Amino acid sequence: MNRFLFTPTLLLALSLVALQAAAQKNPVDAEGHQWWQHAVFYEVYPRSFADGNNDGVGDLNGITSKLGYLHDLGVDAIWITPCYPSPQVDFGYDVSDYENIDPMYGTLADFDRMAAEGKKQNIRIIMDYVINHTSDKHKWFIASKSSKKSPYRNWYVWRDGKAPNQPPNNWISEFGGSAWKFDPTTGQYYYHYFYAEQPDLNWNNPAVEKAMFDVTRWWYKRGVAGFRLDAVDTLFEDPDLRDNPVLPGKNKFGDPNTQEIYNKKLPGVHEVLQNLRKVADENDAVLIGETWTKSIDELKKYYGEHNNELQLPMDFMFTRVDKLSPPEFRRQIAAADAAGGWPTWVISNHDIERSYNRYGDGAHNDDIAKLMAALYFTLRGTPIMYYGEELGMENNDPKRKEDVKDPKGRTGWPADKGRDGERTPMQWNDAENAGFSTHEPWLPVPPSYKTHNVAAESKDPNSVLEFYRKVLALRHTNSVLLEGNYSALNEEDPNVLSYLRTYKGNSVLVALNMSGSAQKASFHLGAQGASPASLDPLVATPGAGANGPEVTLPAFGVFIGEVASR
Ligand code: NOJ
Repeated sequence: MNRFLFTPTLLLALSLVALQAAAQKNPVDAEGHQWWQHAVFYEVYPRSFADGNNDGVGDLNGITSKLGYLHDLGVDAIWITPCYPSPQVDFGYDVSDYENIDPMYGTLADFDRMAAEGKKQNIRIIMDYVINHTSDKHKWFIASKSSKKSPYRNWYVWRDGKAPNQPPNNWISEFGGSAWKFDPTTGQYYYHYFYAEQPDLNWNNPAVEKAMFDVTRWWYKRGVAGFRLDAVDTLFEDPDLRDNPVLPGKNKFGDPNTQEIYNKKLPGVHEVLQNLRKVADENDAVLIGETWTKSIDELKKYYGEHNNELQLPMDFMFTRVDKLSPPEFRRQIAAADAAGGWPTWVISNHDIERSYNRYGDGAHNDDIAKLMAALYFTLRGTPIMYYGEELGMENNDPKRKEDVKDPKGRTGWPADKGRDGERTPMQWNDAENAGFSTHEPWLPVPPSYKTHNVAAESKDPNSVLEFYRKVLALRHTNSVLLEGNYSALNEEDPNVLSYLRTYKGNSVLVALNMSGSAQKASFHLGAQGASPASLDPLVATPGAGANGPEVTLPAFGVFIGEVASR
């Protein structure tokens, strides 16, 4: 080899090129933060977002046509719930082919167009990774089911019954009934944590891991920026299939209550996540987790011992704070903030009743919607918003069992009406079907579409939408909100939730009145390192303001202000 190749100048040049390449792959800001730490994520439920071909069901071309709207709103990445080919038993969460698009949503070419348009609008695409199970119509399961000798048999969880007509154990499906289904062809049962049409993959089989990881590589090559991982808690099962302990009473489906210790959160989950993270890191991608946890310790585990698992495990404990309670929110926020990872804030999604209904008091619902926006956009961490939250969309639960589309709502009726209510069409304007489609939509639009829609709210400076736009704009431009530490203020205040964000000597104070009466809050910021003469408003709802270090808030009022030490 030519000695010239090893001159110090050339080596230096080569290392600079390598450094540059690495920097491009994982660009970080001065705080070492990556793109997903500053991004605002937006969940699109494709059936319900925008209907490009007017058949009553949303589609990818519909989404593409609305990317400009999302860009102007302040969205940096969209997570699209499953749009792969699927029999739609669980509306896409039963995937029959991971590397294609369901014709009802379009084609791969439509996907590529959407991704290209997203690039122009600076919006990244996150796919939903249904990792725990496939559809029973997936070719792997069809082969697995065909014979005990099938090379795919061990891709799923098959077992003999305990005795004739008795499943292998007492595990109960999340959607009601036994989690085992008997298959007469081979005389064995297969395991399904969700619907029987969603057989669980066997993650103990390395072939499953390889095939599923290749799916992520395939989408990375197509330009996706990451995945939201479905149902990660349930990837593994106890190898001995021990019965879960039975608790007193029955669940909403009339099944025995059991403590799911042998089929949830088993240690193998973390190994899979660590391996998946390696593939994600090679692609500068983000992994978001559907992580249902009961404690901060459980949540912490999902970041990984060395922050080497999920970058964004969703904190659903936040959604379980079921009233506007400053002490409860304070507790949750402090715990998540101190968990050691980057917090991920969610207030509702396609499985959870909309925040408008959960927190609304019937008289101040729009004010409360703004209050909740101010909360999850000003905390340290990444917010993931659900489509329509920015309008104050509300649940539209079915009134009659025969109208229910979500199978779980039919089995659980009336205790569980299913999830149709939070999945209704996006409200674009006050035309028929809320401008979602000229065809009757797959779910009816709530009556509130007449007032709560993009067109009408864009014209009203006091609308929920305009408030979202303001707070999102602030969040994108204010380095304190992007980078700053969190500290709770006035921790004894039962009505006003307030906190300080601080970065490089600058502070932003957030005060949220969670009560239905006017409140004043005084701040003694000396202890936090700032002694302000005044608070300069950045975003405030009508009637909210500051006089020196004292903030006045009307019922459910919001004040976000810069701490100015003059
Ligand atoms: C969680 C998804 O969010 C939900 O909609 C789905 O029914 C289950 N996982 C099963 O995939």
